[in-house]
Amino acid sequence: MLRDIQDEIIRLKKEKGIYILAHSYMREEICEIADFTGDSYALSVKAKSAEEDTIIMCGVRFMAETCKILSPQKKVILSHPMAGCPMAEQMSPEYILEKKKEYLGYAVVSYVNTTAALKAISDVCVTSSSAVKICRAMPEKNILFIPDTNLGTYVKEHVPEKNVALLNGGCPIHAAMTEKDVLDAKTAHPDALFLVHPECRPEVTKHADYIGSTAGIMKYAEESDKKEFIIGTENTIAEHLQIMCPGKKFYVLSKDMVCRNMKLTTLTDVYNCVLGRGGEEIEIDEDTRRAALKSIEKMIEYGG
Ligand code: 13P
Ligand code: SF4
Repeated sequence: MLRDIQDEIIRLKKEKGIYILAHSYMREEICEIADFTGDSYALSVKAKSAEEDTIIMCGVRFMAETCKILSPQKKVILSHPMAGCPMAEQMSPEYILEKKKEYLGYAVVSYVNTTAALKAISDVCVTSSSAVKICRAMPEKNILFIPDTNLGTYVKEHVPEKNVALLNGGCPIHAAMTEKDVLDAKTAHPDALFLVHPECRPEVTKHADYIGSTAGIMKYAEESDKKEFIIGTENTIAEHLQIMCPGKKFYVLSKDMVCRNMKLTTLTDVYNCVLGRGGEEIEIDEDTRRAALKSIEKMIEYGG
């Protein structure tokens, strides 16, 4: 039955000229029918180059907004209207405009997990895979990094030549992981390497064998000679890896590492989107879009 719906989605998307993007945190059956699956950075780059007139973004709202900012002439559909990212909503533009007065002369570097309105008042966006590279490459020495304190701390450590100021924000899923979770997982799986996302706290990442974005973690696990891995990011990644690498063993760091927003979209939601009766079409006012575009284009320019 699932296979029938998948076949119908594939048929309809070709017939209607629809391009389906899926973040890697999406369910396996959605990744299987997507034209491209990847982390936030790869999705932004693909969204820009897709030739189709309609894009369905299977992910959360800021990802669909990023597509629309890059491709205003396209119809961009978010796969589920309620799929937001709590981190993206944490800081309002008004709050950051106040902070800019306090941090005069600082470049505002915003994680791509932000609203379009926040991107519009930022100097450059970054993703988890490009944050270090971009902060190193940008000419400004003083950086106000928003909203993720943990990713910002990771950047601060890896780009010591820059003066990085942080505010108090982050991903409620990744930041909820504790050092005890890591120690318990390592005790249960003593031979496993620990691969972790930089959205986790420093007391968690300090135990890592590898720290990187979703795509970085997947690449590392695929290419490693080792056979066992504890996956310190959203639990679906352990499932995808288990399917990709059947000869290896993947363990979740915690049963709680589940992003409910990423799990909202089901295969039938995607089916309804291709039929034109589901999801939400993204609209962004033109002034906000143009301002936000500058910071995303800079991200792609510095990110390479
Ligand atoms: P990346 O896709 O950059 O790894 O970010 C993870 C995430 O939390 C997306 O919402
Ligand atoms: Fe947002 Fe965290 Fe979910 Fe990513 S995993 S969408 S940062 S809440």
